[in-house]
Amino acid sequence: MRTLIPSLIRGGLGRGKQFKIFYSLLTVAMMFLWLTACQPLIIDTRVQENHTATETPAEAGADGLGDPLYPQLGNGGYDVQHYTIELTVDIESSAISGTTTLAALPIKALPRFNLDLFGLTVDSVTVNGEPATFARTDHELIITPAAELIADHPFTVTVTYGGVPEPVSDPGVPFEAVGWLDYDEEGIYVLSEPSGAMSWFPVNNHPLDKATYTFRITAPEPYVVAANGLLIDEIDQGDSRTFVWEASDPMASYLATINIAEFDVIREEGPDGLPIINFFPPERSRWLQRDFAPTAEMISYFSELVGPFPFESYGAIVMNVPFGGALETQTRPVFGRAATMEMIVAHELAHQWFGNSISLAHWQDIWLNEGFATYFHHLWTEKSKGKTVFDATMRGIYTMMKLRQMPPPGNPDLADLFSPSVYERGAWTLHALRLEVGDDTFFQILRTYYDRFQNSNATTDDFIAVAEEVSGQSLDDLFQAWLYDAVVPDVPGME
Ligand code: ARG
Ligand code: ZN
Repeated sequence: MRTLIPSLIRGGLGRGKQFKIFYSLLTVAMMFLWLTACQPLIIDTRVQENHTATETPAEAGADGLGDPLYPQLGNGGYDVQHYTIELTVDIESSAISGTTTLAALPIKALPRFNLDLFGLTVDSVTVNGEPATFARTDHELIITPAAELIADHPFTVTVTYGGVPEPVSDPGVPFEAVGWLDYDEEGIYVLSEPSGAMSWFPVNNHPLDKATYTFRITAPEPYVVAANGLLIDEIDQGDSRTFVWEASDPMASYLATINIAEFDVIREEGPDGLPIINFFPPERSRWLQRDFAPTAEMISYFSELVGPFPFESYGAIVMNVPFGGALETQTRPVFGRAATMEMIVAHELAHQWFGNSISLAHWQDIWLNEGFATYFHHLWTEKSKGKTVFDATMRGIYTMMKLRQMPPPGNPDLADLFSPSVYERGAWTLHALRLEVGDDTFFQILRTYYDRFQNSNATTDDFIAVAEEVSGQSLDDLFQAWLYDAVVPDVPGME
């Protein structure tokens, strides 16, 4: 062990301290490896393609929600309340067939409206049980109901569809495809952030329209279907089974997931009786149970810092593929089997408060997700390894930010949506705030922000407003410098 300790930190430190600092440098190095390992591969801008918005008469629902980075994602004119996704999955071919029904509310009179759906074949569409006509351009499914929809009168739309889902090449994640991912016999996993949900169900594909979900998914024996929320029924048909999952807290579409593999199902109890349901590849289950063992303790700690765990259940899904990423899918994050380190376990958990319960209003505020989750995995280090390790970690990251002249995280281009800056300079923005206002006020700011925006959407300005209100300080300069200025701000004592 000793020979591994870099010579520059050897002199003058006791062994314990050396080890702690070595450990934190290792954590920092691993974090960067993890972030950069999530690079290369495809880029194809299908999502962003200049799509011919079929000339919409003023009264039709808009074909996008005007997100500055993803103008075409989501649709206007209605608000989805609930999705019921009923699919039969053929594992060998990865083909799906079935229906998705949306229960929604028109926010104005609608002669026509759009859903987002990428690939697949639509067989029929009904609105309020009546056949509707439909057309498709790029990822827009344009639906004309038999009768115009009346403002504030709930409606249902059922889409019958099928085919082999193709993952989406999203310019925000040039290093991987998102949506429905098929790994032959190993399993099918869904990781959709930001735009992949439309690869497997018709959807209002933007976090601004959160809804609840029911999944009724049929797969052949011996495959198990894991999804968000609670498993409320499992129907045995002999050679196949239908798993019924209910996610009853509002959820952004990119957080909806189904995962089909031969899982070992491990149930535990978290704080206040919270059901924790983990899905692990059977041959790795023993080791994975160890990796995820701190989960309940992490939930208690984060609840103490921010507020009660936001949802009805929790638990991890581990993909049996050598993938080094993870996604905070609501209540049930998905981890590549190369991404089960403690800090990633803490990171995906922290997203349940920041990113999932508090959703983005637009994608360029992504630091509100990633900067927060990253700071919280560092806070877990502070709790579990102590202040010395935490301080050394934050200092190590600061040095790296300065060396790399890490660009600001506040308004990234599409290609930098998941850049190291969004994670680490985003996390340091919170740390700088903490150093400025002190621990008590800092955590009061986080609690107030969570209390106010849980189950809803927030922007960077919302967060800044809470920080100023709670601290009674003007913090414009601090946020301007950390989030938007090119230069990494100086921090007394850090140079
Ligand atoms: N939100 C994920 C995290 O926990 C990162 C996801 C990056 N990949 C993706 N397909 N969006 O950091
Ligand atoms: Zn994250």
